[in-house]
Amino acid sequence: MKKKQENSKKFLYFFYDILRYATLNIFKERKELLNHILRKIVIFMGGTAGNIRIYNSKTKSLVLIGSYGTSKRYKGDKKSLKIGESISGVVFQKNKLVVVKDLRKSKRYLKLSLALESKMISLISAPLTIFNKKLGVFSLYYSYPKNFTQLEKEIFKLLANFVSLIISTQNIYYELSDAYVGIIKMIIKALEEKDLYLKGHSEKVKKYALLIGKKIGLDEFQLEQLSDLTTLHDTGKLLIDEKILNKPGTLDNKEWEIIKKHPETGAKIISQIRRFKNGISIIKHHHERVNGKGYPNGINGSKIPLLAKIVSVADAIDAMLSPRPYRKPLSIEEVKQELIKNSGTQFDPQIVKVALELINEGKIK
Ligand SMILES: [Fe+2]
Repeated sequence: MKKKQENSKKFLYFFYDILRYATLNIFKERKELLNHILRKIVIFMGGTAGNIRIYNSKTKSLVLIGSYGTSKRYKGDKKSLKIGESISGVVFQKNKLVVVKDLRKSKRYLKLSLALESKMISLISAPLTIFNKKLGVFSLYYSYPKNFTQLEKEIFKLLANFVSLIISTQNIYYELSDAYVGIIKMIIKALEEKDLYLKGHSEKVKKYALLIGKKIGLDEFQLEQLSDLTTLHDTGKLLIDEKILNKPGTLDNKEWEIIKKHPETGAKIISQIRRFKNGISIIKHHHERVNGKGYPNGINGSKIPLLAKIVSVADAIDAMLSPRPYRKPLSIEEVKQELIKNSGTQFDPQIVKVALELINEGKIK
């Protein structure tokens, strides 16, 4: 009796703990949030590993989004599963909880050696659903052939429901913030369309920034930040009077001060979206120079965030390759010379080097 009471107390405390964590961190990056919760669940349930897969309707596959206790090879080789493939694929397809006492005897399980190297012997796997909508699959592994009790199955179902709730809450938030960003992107695009000299500018800057980022070897998360935020780098210009933006002659001091505010204004607008907060420095610092003579903060060298330095080069390349009222577009050879001339003063030499390689390979032209 006493043990039962202790177990209930332990379970209540555990639930309070993950509920509190999820409530306080619901706007965190999805992978980070789910990995943290997954780790807590695996430890509490006495398991050895666990994973969370989310259904991607575009690729019609179950993509590994959270993983704990699995090897690097497992995460790479089993990154994505088709519906009906392996055990998770079947759980999703049939929308039913599945337990496997010994994976070594299972014919369904795909790439068993990957499971064995992480000591994954038995498995409990439940569909992630909310209001009858299938979201993905949640699986927990044990290092020995385990007989799951009815109570353990019920608890696991409860935990799967909890994970589903987190995912769907985040989905709603993502949809809302996507709508907000979508509107900003539409306005930017409409303004660019109107302007002969800016047509397609933000999309081209994004393309060049991603090419540079990939070649430099940025990780998936950094590339995602570049992809999300580069098109928004000039959001702050939306609040500047068109007369100043399109003034044919040189700007006076007052006008120039207004222009110099656009990175900070843009950062303020976009920081309303909490999931973009980490990458906001891309917008805020895309006009800094490595010699400290840029704006808004005049920071130099390594103090300028890497992603902002990439956008700075990408932005300049597109500006040079586009016509202006007072000049024709620069030739690719002239762009190269300008990049070299300003390397180490305006631009980061490492990024210039990569950009020149991309130009020489014909990827930027
Ligand atoms: Fe800008």
